[in-house]
Amino acid sequence: MASITKAVLISRSQMETESWGQWIGRRLANGAVLRLEGELGCGKTCFVRGLARGLGISPDYDIVSPTYTLVNVYQGRVQLVHADLYRLAEPVDAESLELLDWLGGDAVVAVEWAEKLHPRDWPAESLVLRFEVGADGLRRITLIGYGLGFQDLVKVAAHKADNHLSEAG
Ligand SMILES: Nc1ncnc2c1ncn2[C@@H]1O[C@H](COP(=O)(O)OP(=O)(O)OP(=O)(O)O)[C@@H](O)[C@H]1O
Ligand SMILES: [Mg+2]
Repeated sequence: MASITKAVLISRSQMETESWGQWIGRRLANGAVLRLEGELGCGKTCFVRGLARGLGISPDYDIVSPTYTLVNVYQGRVQLVHADLYRLAEPVDAESLELLDWLGGDAVVAVEWAEKLHPRDWPAESLVLRFEVGADGLRRITLIGYGLGFQDLVKVAAHKADNHLSEAG
């Protein structure tokens, strides 16, 4: 049976979103696939900036949305493949995507506007990160881990998020 784990992270600032990205990046192994979902300006690229730091990519690299190039590749402790499907028309024909060659391969893959690709086109082992801006302006990142490989990470993140909330009072 498929294993699904969930955690809700709170972010009150750009820095906090980046530091969640960094925290997760430190814990990812080669082949990890991250599906970043959520409206314009909700913090996906900001998160990937932190992720890159966590993967040991030099801060000299400017991480921006690869909206026009579709895919950017950075070299760190492991490779980071950063993709953005925003400009693609829906539905996206998965076979036409260069991106798919990277999935589950020799890189960590982080894809903005992942909801443009059909759920069946993603590997069974993947991490969904759903970014939301609440009416109160508070940002939430919901992690949904698909597969055993993400179980521990999501559980520890949930625990850290709880601790964080109680620390904040
Ligand atoms: N808690 C927060 N986390 C992340 N970004 C925040 C937060 N609060 C405010 N912001 C602002 O929101 C914006 C997020 O922009 P970002 O480029 O990361 O969004 P995005 O989801 O990648 O958008 P797009 O879909 O256009 O690629 C930035 O301008 C950032 O300063
Ligand atoms: Mg972006």
